[in-house]
Amino acid sequence: MVLGATFLATFVLLAAANPMDRRAMAVHETRAEAANGFVNSGVASGTTELTLRIAMAQNNIAGLEIALYAVSDPASAQYGQHLTAEEVAEYVKPTDAALSAVNAWLTENEISSTSVTPAGDIIQIVIPVSKANDLLSTEFSVFAHVESGKTSIRTLEYSIPADLQAHIDGVHPTVSFTRPLSNPQFTAVKAGKRAVPTSCNSVITPTCLQDMYGIPATPATQSTNKLAVSGFIDEWANEVDLTEFLQNFRTDVSSATTSTLKTLDGGVNTQTRADAGVEANLDIQYTRRPLTQGTTETAASFSAGGFSNYFGIPSYQATDVAAYLSTLGTTDSGKFNTTGRGYPDVAFQGVNFDIAWDTEIGTVSGTSCSSPAFASVIALLNDQLIAAGKSPLGFLNPFLYSAAGRAALNDITSGDNPGCSTNGFSAVAGWDPVTGLGTPNFTALQAAVGL
Ligand SMILES: *[C@@H]1O[C@H](CO)[C@@H](O)[C@H](O)[C@H]1NC(C)=O
Ligand SMILES: *[C@@H]1O[C@H](CO)[C@@H](O)[C@H](O)[C@H]1NC(C)=O
Repeated sequence: MVLGATFLATFVLLAAANPMDRRAMAVHETRAEAANGFVNSGVASGTTELTLRIAMAQNNIAGLEIALYAVSDPASAQYGQHLTAEEVAEYVKPTDAALSAVNAWLTENEISSTSVTPAGDIIQIVIPVSKANDLLSTEFSVFAHVESGKTSIRTLEYSIPADLQAHIDGVHPTVSFTRPLSNPQFTAVKAGKRAVPTSCNSVITPTCLQDMYGIPATPATQSTNKLAVSGFIDEWANEVDLTEFLQNFRTDVSSATTSTLKTLDGGVNTQTRADAGVEANLDIQYTRRPLTQGTTETAASFSAGGFSNYFGIPSYQATDVAAYLSTLGTTDSGKFNTTGRGYPDVAFQGVNFDIAWDTEIGTVSGTSCSSPAFASVIALLNDQLIAAGKSPLGFLNPFLYSAAGRAALNDITSGDNPGCSTNGFSAVAGWDPVTGLGTPNFTALQAAVGL
């Protein structure tokens, strides 16, 4: 008996010496409930391996913001003098003190880490759920996305040592939920000022877009000009799709044209056709407005838009958001965040893009159509800027919201988006959280960028 008591006393002493108990923990991120569409289906098995990312506080993000605006604002003397990757790293790398404090915490928990970004501002650790629960004073659960059945291990709250809070922005993935498929966002249905074939009423081809927006049909010429297609949330750019697109629509461009793959951080490149990021128009409710009137584009009813709960209103957008809110008056008051950044910035056709060679699907709709198509307009402008010996466009927004930029966009003033937002905003004259500043006018954009 005496022996037993001694053992117990020793055990208690050891437990008190555990470094976990020495550190005062503080809740770092919390959310009231899982994101819409997810349900908690029980605690995660303690032995499941978790890959966690510790996002370190970046040493001079305010300085980076100033430098980025200086090169992105057409009114600035530094406009177009883009930063190099090394210059950016200087702003975003964590301080040495922060790195050693966080590494000391990991080391005392016998966790090894690797840096996964050139600037060292993101640290990766791979540990079992049981250890992650201890480390972060939390309990990870399995959350199921009801519609797709896909599961992810998340928590609604976690803590880190109080003395490290200033050094760590966040630990991911913990309280964030990503829907397996993105929702369609800004899109618009067009009635062009120029002659647009009536077939564009039902199916959008590259010719429709060229006609609507004045986009040149001639291929780009500059080899240093690149257009990146990013793959997130289990959607990938598909090489066979590219070949078939070129064979069907751009016979003047070699159908052997391919892309260069850059995977980041263990990324994979699935080429299964079904994973090409189709946002099929099954369950999407929208009203197609016929192109007869020939005057204005109208927002598709499933255009997502609204105000962020995470990002404040950037200065370039402040006047526009204030103007929209004053137009709105007390409508929907309290249902959205009046101090959040408004989105989207711009709009583009995004309904019924022709992929007739895929007989099963036929057409696709959504941001997977409109975003890269808008990006291709910018890439064509960059191609011409490079050919003219000028600097390509960088971070676009200060330009888009400038007097010259907005004048080169077609303001969309009708339509609303009850389909995707909890509120359902309406397009109005000027910027609105349905169609942003509007759709591009290529010739006007050429002039606006100095071509
Ligand atoms: C683009 O804007 C110019 C005026 O700057 C206008 O003449 C032209 O019709 C517009 N093009 C399209 C396709 O809307
Ligand atoms: C509203 O947006 C602001 C700015 O991003 C943010 O700080 C605030 O937490 C948001 N409010 C809510 C209720 O989410």
